[in-house]
Amino acid sequence: MPTTLQAAIAELNEEMIALRRQIHQRPELAMQEDETSALIAWKLRAEGIETQEGVGGTGVVGLVRGKRRGRCIALRADMDALPIQEATRLPFASEVPGVMHACGHDCHVAMLWAAGVALHRQREALRGTVKLIFQPAEEAVAGAPRMIADGVLDNPPVEAAVAVHVWKDPVGTLSLRYGEHLAAADGFDIVVRGKGGHGAMPHATADPVLAAANVVLALQQVVSRRVDPVRPAVLSVCQINGGSAFNIIPDEVALRGTVRTFGGPTRDLVESELQRVAQAAAKAYGCAARVKYTRSCPALIHDEALTRLVEATCREVSGAESVVVEADPCMGAEDFAFFAQRVPATQIAVGIGTPGGPEPLFHNARFLVEERGLAVGAEALASIAWRFVGGPD
Ligand code: NI
Repeated sequence: MPTTLQAAIAELNEEMIALRRQIHQRPELAMQEDETSALIAWKLRAEGIETQEGVGGTGVVGLVRGKRRGRCIALRADMDALPIQEATRLPFASEVPGVMHACGHDCHVAMLWAAGVALHRQREALRGTVKLIFQPAEEAVAGAPRMIADGVLDNPPVEAAVAVHVWKDPVGTLSLRYGEHLAAADGFDIVVRGKGGHGAMPHATADPVLAAANVVLALQQVVSRRVDPVRPAVLSVCQINGGSAFNIIPDEVALRGTVRTFGGPTRDLVESELQRVAQAAAKAYGCAARVKYTRSCPALIHDEALTRLVEATCREVSGAESVVVEADPCMGAEDFAFFAQRVPATQIAVGIGTPGGPEPLFHNARFLVEERGLAVGAEALASIAWRFVGGPD
């Protein structure tokens, strides 16, 4: 990594933090990121970066073209906030009731902006192209597929993609993972239908409450008895709705939940077993189950060669002792996986925790960020891009 890149990030640090705070104050939910994307586009254009708006809805793409020939890499940040009422009392806390950047996507935007501007300022020496992807609707698992459908990976064709997420590690830490990173996320809706009646005369009913309880219990054996124990899988029933009074047995009960796997045959197996077991369990109590299973997000599997390049770069940026290679995958999900289905991809995690302090609480009204971490993340992004496209060190 050239020291000039590091110097450029240092120079941009104050403006990067100001940008993060500005976005933090005006958070927008998935697919409504109008102000955020307009601000990003304006700031990119002010720097002379070729900018395209309205990609996949509210997405913004910046194109940093080096003056020399080389490869093309995409760097991706998500922009959307969460439906949470902020309770941090920060001077730049959310002005929008019930909406908050509680997952750090404001930080991702700011880091990607700084990385892009730093690279643009070094474009005389830069080989190839860096595509800056500001993506809407990560939380809704909708932004990535829409941007891809809109051609974000074409013209020029993207050869690798790197995403960034802030994480609870102390400032200075960069973490990464080889292979399976985040799970495929599916959802299911089950309606258990019976025959309602008086709570005092259950013999005249087909009780869907009892049947639904049985379905919940029976589903737990799908992972424990049917899935190969060395393959990770999760099946969680997270919602139950039914009934209107303490003494009325309802006609039906609805269950909803999520399934996490790393795709492949395990995903197929859980889907089919879930159907079979739910129907059989309901039937045992004289009821019927209707199952709707929805595949939403694929698993995020990191490319080995790209991750090796990222690891080497992170060690340069942050020092070998500050780079964590995570061993175990996480069963969370992230729609960056749609990019990873198309091009070699990997995601890095940037520490924004206060050393020795309490861990940041993600998706929480009191989520706090140690902003000193942003410079490390921006430097890592810029340096990874620099190395990938083939700029001289
Ligand atoms: Ni997030």
